[in-house]
Amino acid sequence: MVKKIKGAPSFNAVASKVKEGHIAKHIMNGMFAKLSKKNLPKIILDGPARKTTKTLIARGHKAHTIFIPNNNLDNFEAIFKYHKNTFYMSLEEFLLKNQFNHVKSGGMYLDYMSTFDADDYCNPRKDLSIIFNNKMLAPNAPIAVTFSNPRHKKTTAFSWADVTRVIAFIYQLGHSNGYQMELLEEGGPYKNGGNMFSIMFIAHKR
Ligand SMILES: C[S@@+](CC[C@H](N)C(=O)[O-])C[C@H]1O[C@@H](n2cnc3c(N)ncnc32)[C@H](O)[C@@H]1O
Repeated sequence: MVKKIKGAPSFNAVASKVKEGHIAKHIMNGMFAKLSKKNLPKIILDGPARKTTKTLIARGHKAHTIFIPNNNLDNFEAIFKYHKNTFYMSLEEFLLKNQFNHVKSGGMYLDYMSTFDADDYCNPRKDLSIIFNNKMLAPNAPIAVTFSNPRHKKTTAFSWADVTRVIAFIYQLGHSNGYQMELLEEGGPYKNGGNMFSIMFIAHKR
């Protein structure tokens, strides 16, 4: 199921004209804040500028419902100064610590800076498996992911497979765990330091 949210700005229309990275983040953060559940915990990978957190708060989410694992010490300290619900650990460690909680998450924004393939520090497939296999997302909650481009250095053009294997993996995990994943039209490739792409899903209960 692919759906465009009414009234949302079009990523592709603006991303090519203005500073791509900023616009892309702005649109994704806005969509995420709009779709996330206010009364449930949100788990986000946010940076020192706390843009996702600020967007959530501007949309009425309370700070104590926003949980930020960050395993970069400088980033952690910069965020923790303003947002006490920040944890100096990897997302994987945070998920493992909370995998058996009965409270479901009202939204997850996995704004990775890595490729979809695991390295020594980050294994997105494992993180996503922990999330879905433990049914950590509340019904109708959004989950967004960002990945960097593994191959193409000079262009934002990803190979079809770079994107579809992420979509297929998330759809399959969702399906095996009782969710019907809805892929939103917002999202796409952009430059932000390197070549990135972001996509967002809603995890409906089947
Ligand atoms: C791209 S930034 C987030 C930007 C933010 N969402 C925004 O809108 O400006 C990602 C942050 O998450 C942290 N991070 C990335 N992967 C992580 C992981 N697997 N575990 C913990 N923190 C991670 C990085 O240290 C960085 O501070």
